[in-house]
Amino acid sequence: MTTYYDGGSGTPTTEVPTASAWGASTALPRDEFTGDLVCTALTPVTHDVLDVTLRAADGGTLPYSPGQYYTFTFPGLGPGGEGVDRCYSVSSAAVTGGGVEELTITVKRVPGGPVSAFVHERLRVGDTLRADGPYGVFGSDVRPGAGALYLSAGSGITPFLSMMRTRAVLLEKGERSLPLWSSVVHVHAAHSPADLVHRVEVMGLSDRHETTVIPVCSADSPAEAWAGVRGRLTAQKLAVLVPDLMEREVLVCGPTAFMEAVVAMVVDLGVPAERIHLESYVFGEKPRVPAQASAWVFSIEFRGAGRTVSCPAGTTILAAAREAGIAHPSSCAEGVCGTCKATMVSGEVDMDHQGGIRPREVREGKILPCCSVPRTDIVLE
Ligand SMILES: Cc1cc2nc3c(=O)[nH]c(=O)nc-3n(C[C@H](O)[C@H](O)[C@H](O)COP(=O)(O)OP(=O)(O)OC[C@H]3O[C@@H](n4cnc5c(N)ncnc54)[C@H](O)[C@@H]3O)c2cc1C
Ligand code: FES
Repeated sequence: MTTYYDGGSGTPTTEVPTASAWGASTALPRDEFTGDLVCTALTPVTHDVLDVTLRAADGGTLPYSPGQYYTFTFPGLGPGGEGVDRCYSVSSAAVTGGGVEELTITVKRVPGGPVSAFVHERLRVGDTLRADGPYGVFGSDVRPGAGALYLSAGSGITPFLSMMRTRAVLLEKGERSLPLWSSVVHVHAAHSPADLVHRVEVMGLSDRHETTVIPVCSADSPAEAWAGVRGRLTAQKLAVLVPDLMEREVLVCGPTAFMEAVVAMVVDLGVPAERIHLESYVFGEKPRVPAQASAWVFSIEFRGAGRTVSCPAGTTILAAAREAGIAHPSSCAEGVCGTCKATMVSGEVDMDHQGGIRPREVREGKILPCCSVPRTDIVLE
């Protein structure tokens, strides 16, 4: 579960507001979900972006807060056809007229990417995907009364779609069950107007409910000369577009180069680090501490594999497994997706995760081996 702030006092609570707390649904309410989702609609959004709408095979509700993601298993992919895991942010509103019995993810085709190609070319209405979620805390630390600046590029718009759609639904209903920013400015960078995701809808949100959307394109598209803000974002441009930047929390999501560039800009403009919140879609292996860096070596028993391996202090359990040739499932290797989750029978670890495990699971003895280093000898189920 995620820490949320209740709208009135700003006091942290540990409960994610459930779908039923937001109203409407008559289906089985729950605050986490692991199971099968059935694809109910595939809707092209741009030339390389597709909306995928999913509902739980058991008919229950799908919990999430705006900004959260699910980890999906795509069947038949991977070297042995064992399936491949990927995370996708929910892009739909967390509140809809009929409750949250369906959610939508918005998938951009990544050149050479196996899963986004599968989604665009082979996924069909009626197909089933395994899903686990919701995970993540992006956008959860809303300070009611404060303003926000959303900065996105490419598919990085998806968590903001959910945030803005949810905000619009709540304000239109006069609902105050979720905390809200007092105002939102959303600067979205795209290559050309043809790449603006849900352009008509998003622009329709602009200038309503203290929301301003500013698309920035660096080129024309074949069918349209871009008449809006043009070129790449710079600190000077940002300062002009968002004159009250210093009073806002800054939330950033997009390709790595974009995120690095805009974070440098807002830091240059004087925004303190604690007011900058990031969601990255791209993983890199965590650097491993070389074995000779420490005299301590722990043993890790993988009961499932019937093997016990050595793990130098400072090395993650996943890295030790790989080194020993044990094929433990993993995807992000950064504590985000939850794919490597395992039950620890005994031992202690330092776990540096990024939202890929729930507090309940930690209490039940589960760990994420990709971001856990042993403090003692370890036994895994
Ligand atoms: C928390 C989280 C939420 C995500 N939400 C979304 C979402 O809402 N919509 C979406 O389209 N994707 C999202 N992603 C990315 C998604 O999980 C996949 O990585 C993406 O669809 C590519 O998968 P693939 O198998 O086709 O290619 P991969 O083999 O995973 O990637 C191929 C290459 O492209 C890079 N890459 C991956 N994603 C992107 C990207 N979005 N932009 C630029 N380069 C990228 C990878 O680092 C790699 O170098 C999210 C990722 C995370 C971690
Ligand atoms: S592999 Fe993603 S959380 Fe461990």
